[in-house]
Amino acid sequence: MENEAKKRNSFTGSIGFVLAAAGSAVGLGNIWRFPYLAARDGGGLFLLIYLILTLTFGFTLLTTEVAIGRKTKQSPLTAYGKLKKHWRPLGIMACIIPMIIMPYYCVIGGWVVKYFLTFLTGSGAQTAEDGYFNAFISDSSSPIGMTIVFLFLTVIIVLGGVDKGIERFSKIVMPALVLLIVVIAIFSINQSYEDVDGTVRTGLQGLKILFVPDVSTLTVESFFTTLMDAMGQLFYSLSVAMGIMIAYGSYMKDDSNLSKSIVQIEVFDTGIALLAGIMIIPAVYVFMGKDGMQAGAGLMFVSLPKVFMQMGRIGGLVGCLFFAMVLFAATTSAVSILEAVVSSFMDQFHCSRKMAVLGEGAIALILGIIVCMGYDNLNFELKIPNNPNARILDIMDYISNNLLMPIVAIGTCILVGWILKPKFIIDEVTKNGEKFGRKGLFIVMIKFVAPVLLGVLLLMAVGII
Ligand code: ALA
Repeated sequence: MENEAKKRNSFTGSIGFVLAAAGSAVGLGNIWRFPYLAARDGGGLFLLIYLILTLTFGFTLLTTEVAIGRKTKQSPLTAYGKLKKHWRPLGIMACIIPMIIMPYYCVIGGWVVKYFLTFLTGSGAQTAEDGYFNAFISDSSSPIGMTIVFLFLTVIIVLGGVDKGIERFSKIVMPALVLLIVVIAIFSINQSYEDVDGTVRTGLQGLKILFVPDVSTLTVESFFTTLMDAMGQLFYSLSVAMGIMIAYGSYMKDDSNLSKSIVQIEVFDTGIALLAGIMIIPAVYVFMGKDGMQAGAGLMFVSLPKVFMQMGRIGGLVGCLFFAMVLFAATTSAVSILEAVVSSFMDQFHCSRKMAVLGEGAIALILGIIVCMGYDNLNFELKIPNNPNARILDIMDYISNNLLMPIVAIGTCILVGWILKPKFIIDEVTKNGEKFGRKGLFIVMIKFVAPVLLGVLLLMAVGII
């Protein structure tokens, strides 16, 4: 055990790193969050802004975090202190973030397990009934049971270690995920439906909503809302400012091409988000019309089951494949969230992987049960900006995503941009003589644009602007 604690695990090579990091990035954020935000924020316009931000802002933060991890060979908790002694508090915050996210991510993962099992056992039609989702999440035992199943699955994989657990699992699951999402997306755009009044809606029309920017209702205010939504989504989706990419970077081999890996992760994550949009938006449009797309966060758990049931006999199978795919995506992300905390515990307390996994697993279990109870026994509603009826899950999401993540990201930009200087990261990226594409952009982003944008995001989150 002692040896295990001292010897740092690593991915076997670039492909292992990219698949694990892409597995982390591709998760509920891409499949559950991206399509409803795109539907709500003007489809094509959201998409355009999101793509620009990924190539500039996302690329900067992703490169920085992976490079910090590889350079220091430390977890998020200990890496910042190693870079500059007085910056250790930023590391503590970067470790607290995945500790807050993990419990509620497992709760949502549990909901996915429930839907998958329901479709698998041929009872998918139940999930399309009005009120099914609310009745399920406010049940006093079922969501807790499903959360435990999902957490258990995640714990088992992380116990296997970086190469034999996380990498091996990602190598199997990621190709399967891509295959499933492509098949369902092709199926979705080929759907059509004739309404009672004789109007025929087709998948291709739905696709237009996703890709063609709708500027007819655009105002300065709505543009800023879309910009901030896209930025918040980018954080979540690329798994940046959650400590994850520092942990994964610390397991990256020194001779792997960091710059190329970052491009591959960006392409993977954005490609899957687009495919999720192509899979979900046309299907919801065809079977439920434009109104169906305003379902917000309920799009995946409330609207989609209804869509599957409208498809007739094949709907049960499509639903089962869909939730299997979501389960794959959610598990690879949950694994990375857990690993960010586990690596921190191992580096800080010099404990074994087993101790660290079981310790964080127990914390996530207790908090996860409290999150589940937030829909039942602890059913009080709190006010947070943009959500007057927030439950415990929403509060945790708000604290981590809207408050702590921008603070960690701003701190990282200041540390790297102004104290260590961008050259510190550039040197790490190019240490084997690799080319650093977008180098000029990186410098401008890390020093000026990213901290300012992040500052605005934070002020908006606390309701100051
Ligand atoms: N990046 C992960 C997701 O999209 C956390 O769900």
